[in-house]
Amino acid sequence: MKEVEELLENATVGKRANGFVYGGSGFGKSATLKDVVKRQPQHRFRIVYVNCSLHRTAALATTGVAVELGYPARGMSEPILTQLIVDKMLEDDRPFIFIFDEIQAVRDSDRLIYCFTRLHEVAKMPKLRHWAVIVATPSRRWLKELEDNQEVMAYKSWLPVEIECPQYNYDQLRAILMDRREAAFKDPYCPVEVVNAIAARAVFRGDARWAIEMLRIAGERADKEYRIVDEGDVLFAASKTESYKILDDLAKFPTANHRLYFNVILQVCVVRATTLDVYERYGTHVAINQLGEPLSRRMCQEIVKYLQDKELIKLEAKWTPGVRGSKVFITVPEEVRRAIEDSKVLNLNGGIKNG
Ligand SMILES: Nc1ncnc2c1ncn2[C@@H]1O[C@H](COP(=O)(O)OP(=O)(O)O)[C@@H](O)[C@H]1O
Ligand SMILES: [Mg+2]
Repeated sequence: MKEVEELLENATVGKRANGFVYGGSGFGKSATLKDVVKRQPQHRFRIVYVNCSLHRTAALATTGVAVELGYPARGMSEPILTQLIVDKMLEDDRPFIFIFDEIQAVRDSDRLIYCFTRLHEVAKMPKLRHWAVIVATPSRRWLKELEDNQEVMAYKSWLPVEIECPQYNYDQLRAILMDRREAAFKDPYCPVEVVNAIAARAVFRGDARWAIEMLRIAGERADKEYRIVDEGDVLFAASKTESYKILDDLAKFPTANHRLYFNVILQVCVVRATTLDVYERYGTHVAINQLGEPLSRRMCQEIVKYLQDKELIKLEAKWTPGVRGSKVFITVPEEVRRAIEDSKVLNLNGGIKNG
């Protein structure tokens, strides 16, 4: 990614080098960032890479940075850790580049950004020289929210260069798969046609992670039967991976409320229903089952946005002439329902079972 390298160039001459990298899952954000990091000569930068899906608060992500810099993982408060990080920066000549991958996983990410873009103030060290904060996340919406939120100063002190990571095309997916094939199969167990077929199936998403997973599953199935991988294995892998991804998202709902709200959507949006219909039904459901106070409309809109990001639901705005505002309809994609029906853990009628 040329743009990331340009950012790093800026950092060496003391220019602002903050970056915001976005692009769908499997488009190669992490792979590219890690690759750029690896190619940099050690003496030029101190790059600290933290995967935030393992650190879900600003405090934990700060700990992640400190650990990367050689401090112990436990027993220190956030201000002390920040001070230690700044100490390391002061004793080093190189610009520091902090990379927070999967930043959306951090609940108070605005605070993390604010703290790391203003280290000189937070640690009362005006002497501190140049450093940069680069983050990566699947959706541009994350930045939009940071920008829109008036209470937050984070965006203003950060002002990142936006870098879009585009989805992979057929040739790129094919090249990635050919590498994997080379590493994982002995000739002639995985014919090149199989790689082509998988690349062709994965191309509408442009998702390398998905393509690699298909290759793995197709290979495994053929392997069990001591066969060469064939078209049937590819079909099998395609349907399996589709539902895996969905089930994986369902299993990883951030809160029980997400789960509950999604359940209500499944029941209300058999054809389609407006966001308001869903919210009202949710309120009734909560009342009937004595689940306490329902969440506010706004909180539920957050959940809807989350579900949309994960492609578990689709939103569609309909504007009627003469009526103020537009109605937003929710639908559940066919493949999501199918994945839920096919699975044993989840069922549609009773909603998602616990556990
Ligand atoms: N250019 C590439 N060459 C080889 N493997 C790649 C390449 N890009 C992505 N991959 C592989 O595809 C998978 C998903 O890529 P990743 O960078 O993790 O996606 P993202 O971070 O955008 O979700 C990873 O297993 C990664 O190793
Ligand atoms: Mg990634």
